[in-house]
Amino acid sequence: MTETLQFTRQLSDHRVSAEQRAAILADPGFGNYFTDHTAVVDYKVDAAGIGGWSNARVEPYGPILMDPAAAVLHYGQEIFEGMKAYRHADGSVWTFRPEANAVRFNKSAVRLALPELPEGVFVDSLRELVAVDKDWIPSGDGAALYLRPFMIATEAFLGVRPAREVSYRVIASPAGNYFGGELKPVPIWLSTRYARAGHGGTGEAKCGGNYAASLAAQLEAEAHGCKQVLFLDPTNDNAVEELGGMNIFFVFADGTLVTPELNGNILHGVTRSSIIQLAKDRGLQVQERKITIDEWREGIAGGRIAEVFACGTAAVITPIGELKTEDGSMVSPPLGADAVCMSIRRQLLGIQTGVEEDIHGWLTRL
Ligand code: COI
Repeated sequence: MTETLQFTRQLSDHRVSAEQRAAILADPGFGNYFTDHTAVVDYKVDAAGIGGWSNARVEPYGPILMDPAAAVLHYGQEIFEGMKAYRHADGSVWTFRPEANAVRFNKSAVRLALPELPEGVFVDSLRELVAVDKDWIPSGDGAALYLRPFMIATEAFLGVRPAREVSYRVIASPAGNYFGGELKPVPIWLSTRYARAGHGGTGEAKCGGNYAASLAAQLEAEAHGCKQVLFLDPTNDNAVEELGGMNIFFVFADGTLVTPELNGNILHGVTRSSIIQLAKDRGLQVQERKITIDEWREGIAGGRIAEVFACGTAAVITPIGELKTEDGSMVSPPLGADAVCMSIRRQLLGIQTGVEEDIHGWLTRL
């Protein structure tokens, strides 16, 4: 789908003063502040049953007026994406592999019985929003303007069927380190009480429900001093799946990278696939395969696992320092100066911010 739409612009005043914005950009954290505008496109199925996208626009950021019977509020018919816009030294603004996010967005749409959005409209919506809100792009290690495209079922109807009215939107939020403060290895909690996904479920879709379902486990994690929760597949030898909001990798002492295979339960992370490519470029072996919690435990105990890290658009690459479990904890070895995860992180951020060569043509100018 290459269809495009013409976006109109209704611009607002700045929501905060230039001084307030500068203070926010100096320490944005993650997901706390939002820019001045939002991009919106409407979808409707007509009386003949034909659906279409229309009314593409950039409008002032603000609350969404929605019928209390809107399907998203009852049945969670919703999907989203996470991307970032980076400012390069020459002032140009770029995003990373947006076509991969557009493809994943449409796969999620199909799973949630939402309409697919033409890839051209997806990329244009980012471009249009960033064009009016580029003063909100922070700089600094790992800092960028986080872009959150999402699609919600807005039709007021309580019968359980795919909605015939839908809204696609993009909001933007200046972002620093997802876990706050300086980058450091994080402790994570092993959930044995809850599962994230089941076979044939929505595990590989990026839908709000998956994240809502992780929150009870996330509360458990926080009660144990952890910032993320790890889910296993109890029906498959306790295979490691993913964290509440990020994929996971292991670096073995022989340099091999291992990450759980995409088996339908796991999000097809764009950062995940980029790491696999960058590791292969370095001549490292990469295995996408089943890795069980027992292999992790034995790997740490026997010195075969050297590094464990989480990855995602928001998290970039964040080392995992410790896995806490009901039965004790598994502490990752301390990271040396030559840690593979930190080196790939530097390269990835370097490509994204324009200081490393974009050998794979991953950047798109906004
Ligand atoms: C992202 O990495 O973009 C996500 O959507 C995950 C969420 C934890 C922020």
